[in-house]
Amino acid sequence: MEIMTQPIRAGVPVWLLPAGDKNTIEFFFVHTGELEIVLDGNVVTFGPGDSFYIKGLGQELSLKTNKDSVLLYVSSSLVYETSADFNTELTRLVVQINDKDNYTFRHSRNVLRYSIKLFERLKTYCKDDNVSNLATAALFHDVGKCYIPDEILKKKGRLDLAEYKKVMRHPIDTAKLLKPHFNEKVVELAQSHHERLDGSGYPFGLTQEDLSIEARILAVADVFDAMTTERGYNEVKSFKDAVDEIISMPDKFDKRVALALASLVEEQAFGPE
Ligand SMILES: [Fe+2]
Repeated sequence: MEIMTQPIRAGVPVWLLPAGDKNTIEFFFVHTGELEIVLDGNVVTFGPGDSFYIKGLGQELSLKTNKDSVLLYVSSSLVYETSADFNTELTRLVVQINDKDNYTFRHSRNVLRYSIKLFERLKTYCKDDNVSNLATAALFHDVGKCYIPDEILKKKGRLDLAEYKKVMRHPIDTAKLLKPHFNEKVVELAQSHHERLDGSGYPFGLTQEDLSIEARILAVADVFDAMTTERGYNEVKSFKDAVDEIISMPDKFDKRVALALASLVEEQAFGPE
C-alpha cells in the first residue's frame, strides 16, 4: 500500500503508467485545484473533493491541470512510477522542450510507450524486475536536446558535420541533466540510447558487452519511433517496414528486442499507425 500527496503545477502534464499487477487499485482524491483526465479521447474534469479509482490500468493515462493542484493518491501496491514523482525542474524541462520542439516531446512519449511494452515482453532477460528505470530513461532520454540550437534541431534536410557533432552531444547533456535527480542506471540508460551493438553508435561507441537488455530496448524504441514519425525531412515508414529494417540489422539492434517488437506490431499493440 502506498499513500502520497501529489502536488502538480498548473499546465504540467502528468502520466500515470500501468502498474505491473493487474489487480492494483489506485485511488485519487482531488484535494485542491482541478484535474483533467483524458479517457478514450474525452476530457473529464475533477474538482476539489472529487475522487475516482482505477483498477488494473492497462495503458498510460494522461492528466492535465489548469490550476496548481494537490492530489491524494492511494495505491494498493507499491507504485513504481508516476511522472509526477519527477523533479519539478526536469518536468519543467520537458515542458520547455515541448515549446521548443514539439517533435521531441511527442517522440519521448512514444519511446516511453514502446519501451514499456517491450520490457513486458522481455522481462525474463531483464535484470530489473520493474520498468521504473527504463521508463524514466525513456521519457527523459532526449532532454539534452535543449542545448541544440533551434536552427539545427529544426533543420530540414541533411546536417553538415559541424551540426551533426552538436547533435551527437545530446546524450552526454542528457546524462548531465539527469544525474542530480536519478540513479546511475537511469543516467546510463538514457545516455546510451544511440549506442549500437557493433560499436558504431555514439557518444562513446560502446559495444554489446556494455549494453544491457534495457539499453537495447531503449535503442530499438527510439529508432522505431524515429523511422515511423514525420519529422519534416524523412521518409516515414510503416510499422511493419520499420520492424523489418530493424530486424535486418542484428549487428546493431538486439534480435530478441527486434522480434518482440515485430510481435507487438503484428498484434497491433501500439494501436493504429
Ligand atoms: Fe536522441
